[in-house]
Amino acid sequence: MNQLPAVPVPASCMKVLITHDQIARRVAEMGREITRDYAGQSVMLVGVLKGATIFLAELACNIELDATFDFFGVSSYADCAHQSGEVRLTKDVDTSLEGRNVILVEDILDTGLTMNYLKNVVMTHQPRSFKIASLLDKPAHRIQPIEADYLGFTIPDVFVVGYGLDYAEHYRNLQDIYVLPPEAFSSG
Ligand code: IMP
Repeated sequence: MNQLPAVPVPASCMKVLITHDQIARRVAEMGREITRDYAGQSVMLVGVLKGATIFLAELACNIELDATFDFFGVSSYADCAHQSGEVRLTKDVDTSLEGRNVILVEDILDTGLTMNYLKNVVMTHQPRSFKIASLLDKPAHRIQPIEADYLGFTIPDVFVVGYGLDYAEHYRNLQDIYVLPPEAFSSG
């Protein structure tokens, strides 16, 4: 088996941007908003692997409605040699979205390319309704003018990790959200 390289910078050397307490409070509010908006209906939470998994789990526990889960997998070429911003579906949903109240659950909206692409995929399934729940919004590099209907926090133009968000697959399990320092990008 391939081994992941050692973690570039330990959590103890990184600055906390949003604590788990702050996240938990805001996600509970988001759950209450969704519970109110869809009163008497069912919702289908569709997460984007892998970053949205922890957020989806905590959000779902705060929604007092009948709720089901499914997941999309995507890969983006935005940060590699292709520079095309192309998004590719690596895993489709397993269940039909037709006639469902779909809430697309994402960890962070950055350029908006991923959400815009997935919104178009969902709309071809003819859902009853469509909304986006995103834990974070980083508007500095937005290319597609897409916004979250349910938003946790707007953050500045920094690279963040933790609570599902990764750098090279590391840090997803950290409870708080941290700013990854510049030296982490150059330490291979
Ligand atoms: P977008 O298509 O540019 O909006 O990018 C969305 C995806 O980029 C997210 O689902 C993340 O996987 C990744 N991403 C963007 N900014 C960050 C960050 O600060 N930390 C970790 N992942 C990020």
